[in-house]
Amino acid sequence: MAHVMQYLYIISAGLFILSLRWMNHPASSRHGVWAGEIGMLLAIVGTFIGFPGMDGVGIAFVHNWTWIIAAFVIGIVVGVPIAYIMPMTAVPQRTALSHACGALAAALVGTAEFYQRQPHADTELRGFIMVALVIETLLGYLTFTGSLMAMGKLQEVLPQRPITYRNQNLVNFILFAIALGLAVRMAFVPTDTILFPIFAGLSLVFGVLLIIPIGGADMPTVIAILNSYAGLSACAMGFALNSRLLVVAGALDGSSGLILSIIMCKAMNRSFTNVLFGAFGQVQVSTGKAEQRAYRSASAEEAASVLEAASSVIIVPGYGLAVAQAQHKIRELYDSLTKRGVDVKFGIHPVAGRMPGHMNVLMAEADIPYDKLVEMDEINGEFPQCDVALVIGANDVTNPKARTDKSCPIFGMPILDVDKAHTVMVIKRSMNPGFAGIDNDLYYLDKTLMLFGDAKAFVSELVKELPARAAA
Ligand code: TAP
Repeated sequence: MAHVMQYLYIISAGLFILSLRWMNHPASSRHGVWAGEIGMLLAIVGTFIGFPGMDGVGIAFVHNWTWIIAAFVIGIVVGVPIAYIMPMTAVPQRTALSHACGALAAALVGTAEFYQRQPHADTELRGFIMVALVIETLLGYLTFTGSLMAMGKLQEVLPQRPITYRNQNLVNFILFAIALGLAVRMAFVPTDTILFPIFAGLSLVFGVLLIIPIGGADMPTVIAILNSYAGLSACAMGFALNSRLLVVAGALDGSSGLILSIIMCKAMNRSFTNVLFGAFGQVQVSTGKAEQRAYRSASAEEAASVLEAASSVIIVPGYGLAVAQAQHKIRELYDSLTKRGVDVKFGIHPVAGRMPGHMNVLMAEADIPYDKLVEMDEINGEFPQCDVALVIGANDVTNPKARTDKSCPIFGMPILDVDKAHTVMVIKRSMNPGFAGIDNDLYYLDKTLMLFGDAKAFVSELVKELPARAAA
């Protein structure tokens, strides 16, 4: 049986790697999800068949099925409705909740192992194993409370603004140093059981203190980092339980979370060291109303005539499209324009929306052909030849200030060069700023037409106008 388990583990580790690989592209992402799910199923089956850990557990060693079945049922009853009910725009907080649960599981396993192995502490809690256990529990508990804080901020049940006080970093540092000191002591004297609850409590408090100084606006990046911590915790658990699969899966999770957070930081031009030390993310103060500058607006009828005359259109989706759930209407617009022989492409900015891949997922939901979704670096060269750039609910990711205005908070953030298109049309509800809270110079260009309205409602009107105009 142990052999079967090893084969299953190798296959599931391979599937986890393929899953990450396939999720790199919209066309293969569904395979990626399947590979990950099958990999996880095989891992669970393998664990039940036989686990060559220190205690030699496996299906024959399960003493209490009630707990396992109860956890399984609770997971399904809570998890399945959440997956269906949660709107796409709330995925970042849902992800934070998942990390919280995963990290808590790792921390509790570490805690159970620590106490369970006490009678044989000399042999079973020696050196490296104990180091792995304290890393697992430290990261597990701090990720648990940190992720709950991140979720609370994103869901706006906690204040979005950074909560700061004097010498905050010093307090955090001292707390972390005490937790680390206890960890070192336990690594040398694992029988000192009284220290463990203090250590676990400090880790829980540290998770809260680490996240509260960060503004709600920066939580998506923080979540990617917490993802990485949860993965490292699982990896350490793999060492403690002598499970190679957990080591591999945890390392994949930890490193992919880290890489993702680096990509997000680069795409938003944020410093990664700031993120790591938690002292970043001041909420941008929105001016509420944009300063009074002249701009041109147009009706759906006028916008339809501009689109009708175009031979190439680049659609730039953003957060407002997700809020309006306009993806299916955009598919109708795409069909209508391509039927008229217009070349339509979509310019995808890596941090458009509020989570990585947000726009890819929305466009995939509406079955927009994958080859029409073009990444920023590739599409930017096409804007100067493009007749119309149609911006739908995107703001910061199109703001030319990012290229020129050193004083603006998004200076240096790579943007989609929509201002280089012959004509620009922007669908949004008002002149209000976007996520970064700054005015967008794009709206005041002579070539720009503002199309005011909810993205879904306005695109519906465009879709109605196009055939009506053709028939007239
Ligand atoms: P934003 O700059 O946030 O702009 C979205 C615009 O959508 C707003 O200006 C808003 O204007 C409009 N809008 C909202 N609801 C709408 C609706 N129902 N119909 C039409 N328009 C609507 O979005 P973006 O351009 O996608 O940029 C994303 C921002 O989020 C960047 O600053 C990025 O750094 C940040 N961010 C992204 C991520 C990831 S991973 N994607 C993570 C953290 C932060 P009105 O109110 O006038 O309608």
